[in-house]
Amino acid sequence: MNDFRLAVLPGDGIGPEVTAEALRVLCAAADLFGFRLITTQYAVGAAGVAESGEALPLTSRYGVTDADAVLLGAVGHPSLASAEGSRRPEAGLLALRELLKVYANLRPVSVHPALRHASPLRPERLEGVDLLIVRELTGGLYYGEPRWRSELEAVNTLRYTTAEIERVARVAFEAAEGRRKRVTSVDKANVLEVSELWRDTVSQVALDYPDVVLEHLYVDFAAVRLVCDPAGIDVLLTENMFGDILSDEAAVLAGSLGLLPSASLGDGSGLYEPVHGSAPDIAGQGVANPIGAIASAALLLRYSLELEEAARAVEEAIAGALSAGYRTADIAGPGERVVGTREMGEAVVERVLSA
Ligand code: IPM
Ligand code: MN
Repeated sequence: MNDFRLAVLPGDGIGPEVTAEALRVLCAAADLFGFRLITTQYAVGAAGVAESGEALPLTSRYGVTDADAVLLGAVGHPSLASAEGSRRPEAGLLALRELLKVYANLRPVSVHPALRHASPLRPERLEGVDLLIVRELTGGLYYGEPRWRSELEAVNTLRYTTAEIERVARVAFEAAEGRRKRVTSVDKANVLEVSELWRDTVSQVALDYPDVVLEHLYVDFAAVRLVCDPAGIDVLLTENMFGDILSDEAAVLAGSLGLLPSASLGDGSGLYEPVHGSAPDIAGQGVANPIGAIASAALLLRYSLELEEAARAVEEAIAGALSAGYRTADIAGPGERVVGTREMGEAVVERVLSA
């Protein structure tokens, strides 16, 4: 029997609630597919600050580097919104991404047919939407030095090397080879030198993937394309900050930010987290949508544990629960029965077990 070590970092707000459901689904998959998960919980975000005074405590650092994969809930807490340095919950997440060197963030977006009403876009626009955002995750403005703030001025630095661009571009092209063979690379090359380098480097990488069609878009127009012709996009490749913004925009296609999963991959263990945040306004009420977290667990099965069959079973179970009419508040249409976090998790577990 295969044993896998999983580091679980539930974090803040709705993080613990949705992570608990993702874990229940993983345990169901383990039962069914005959593998074993050894899970250890660690603190991150405001929970980390409460434990040790730092958003990413030392014990969490050691724990994650020792694991086969890392499952994270969410970080962020209103009481620490203006905290500084390593006490900022978000700094814990950024430190974690840096520590694990997960430079490629994969955010798949598709639209379940039963949820077309949940998006503010016209249903016909959503036909055929199936895209993958590949966001560079450990460089750019998020990490650039120097960075500082004084009373009347502040500085952040946008900097990328060709090596950083090339390795994430390869992830995008390789993904495209197994999909519709299109890469849309997003930059601002009409203004930024960094984007010129991005464009040239991506074009160079493209030569190694002759059956993949590459197009370049400026980020402002990419924002338009995402809502006007989302089905025309296959793999969208972009740098850290543009990817942060465009992936929230893309979530609108799916109907709710609560549905979207992500996988962050590098050369070591992968990090899996829903795209949504800690949602303090609904935390602790058992109403959050656990599907983003559960779908992240499916990606964990696929990419880190290489259990494709189990990953598919979880994804099919999610689709099955949605087809059967299970709706958390964020995706419920008028008159539809609303279930809580736990009941939605249970609906997926049941369907995994009967796969
Ligand atoms: C995300 C989040 C994070 C980011 C925050 C919480 C630091 O918005 O994962 O998209 O900006 O990367
Ligand atoms: Mn974001």
